[in-house]
Amino acid sequence: MTNTMWGGRFASSPSDIMEEINASIDFDKRLWRHDIEASKAHVAMLAATGILAPSDASKIADGLDQILGEIEAGDFKFSRALEDIHLNVENRLKEIIGPVAGKLHTARSRNDQVATDFKLYVRDEIGLIEAGLAQLQLALATRALEEAATVMPGFTHLQTAQPITFGHHCLAYVEMFARDRGRFLDAAKRLNECPLGSAALAGTSFPVDRHHTAKALGFDRPTANSLDSVSDRDFALETLAAASIAAVHLSRLAEEIVLWTSPQFGFARLSDSFSTGSSIMPQKRNPDAAELVRAKTGRIAGAFQALLMVMKGLPLAYAKDMQEDKEPVFDALDALKLGISALAGMIADLEVNAKAMKKAAGSEYATATDLADWLVQNLDTPFREAHHITGTIVALAEKKGIDLKRLQLADLQGVEPGITNDVFNVLDPARSAKSRTSYGGTAPSNVRREAKRWIKRL
Ligand code: ARG
Repeated sequence: MTNTMWGGRFASSPSDIMEEINASIDFDKRLWRHDIEASKAHVAMLAATGILAPSDASKIADGLDQILGEIEAGDFKFSRALEDIHLNVENRLKEIIGPVAGKLHTARSRNDQVATDFKLYVRDEIGLIEAGLAQLQLALATRALEEAATVMPGFTHLQTAQPITFGHHCLAYVEMFARDRGRFLDAAKRLNECPLGSAALAGTSFPVDRHHTAKALGFDRPTANSLDSVSDRDFALETLAAASIAAVHLSRLAEEIVLWTSPQFGFARLSDSFSTGSSIMPQKRNPDAAELVRAKTGRIAGAFQALLMVMKGLPLAYAKDMQEDKEPVFDALDALKLGISALAGMIADLEVNAKAMKKAAGSEYATATDLADWLVQNLDTPFREAHHITGTIVALAEKKGIDLKRLQLADLQGVEPGITNDVFNVLDPARSAKSRTSYGGTAPSNVRREAKRWIKRL
């Protein structure tokens, strides 16, 4: 049997291998809802412009509705021989309404059709991801408010740096996810032009009204150049770029959860619902979900690379290479949505060990900078000199095997005679965090204000 759609040109049917390499139905069936939605908008436009008789148009629209119902009910038989979602739907339409089904493809091609379907899909996904990120932000901001005064060590180079608050740490991620949402919304804005009616590549001689179709599908306007319309996959690339950056943020948070929940850190404990055990070691509580969020960054960033490579060097306009755009996008966006939900769940019921955090914040000379600042503020010591004096004091404490706080005043005065008892105030980690009231600083008062501002906004 030759192909029903273009059999006129061919004497025999494709080989099995040809069918296997060519067919996209196994994955692009996901676009069924958008494909039918776009076809309905197209046929309505064809009727409105008088290109199709109203009676034909309504037969087609009814048939499309029936197909929608069949697919929703799981009664639709997808066929590989029919290559892709577009031809599967059109073929079924012909079975239902007969030859008039052939009029649906007037003034369009699968090239503008697939670009439109895919844009509709990606636009919906962006909506879901953006909402998911907002949920994750809310979970983090809620924890930030609860833990606004929970002191923990802040790190640079993963070495104890200065005391911060856990709330402040949570809010750092809220900021990152805000930028991620912005990137997705930007992508959605640029995406929102309708390719339908560009036909194969050159436009069409039928008196189509592309503004009509664009409006019906919720696009801001039709795309301006028919060649660009069918060649463009920037919208998918841009979405994958935004997804890759967001995934890196998710991964960093996931990594911190892995660190915090390790017994060596002991800063937090994951709930039972987000932990796994070991089949051999009965004591284990493994952070598998966090590890998988971290790992999924690989497939998301990989999908971005894959599509970049598919698009690189493709001459205008459509080429079949572009059929390879869908799987990476489906896979990456699925992984991203799952990662976002998993992290929101982990954050919402993470049990914070405030005592362990505070203890760690008071060790490893985390308040050394406070001591140097004290010398600057009280003895008018130039900061560089204060840094040197403090370094000497840290070395002394290290030699004695004690914290800065445990040094005797006489020890301190042995290094800098001007130091008074008052210095001990700034060596306490909670006080240190509390003093960081500069704009954007870690002080609990700042964290409370920022967390409330976010919660109100989200
Ligand atoms: N299945 C194709 C895709 O996903 C649809 C477009 C086919 N166009 C064509 N000229 N063969 O890209």
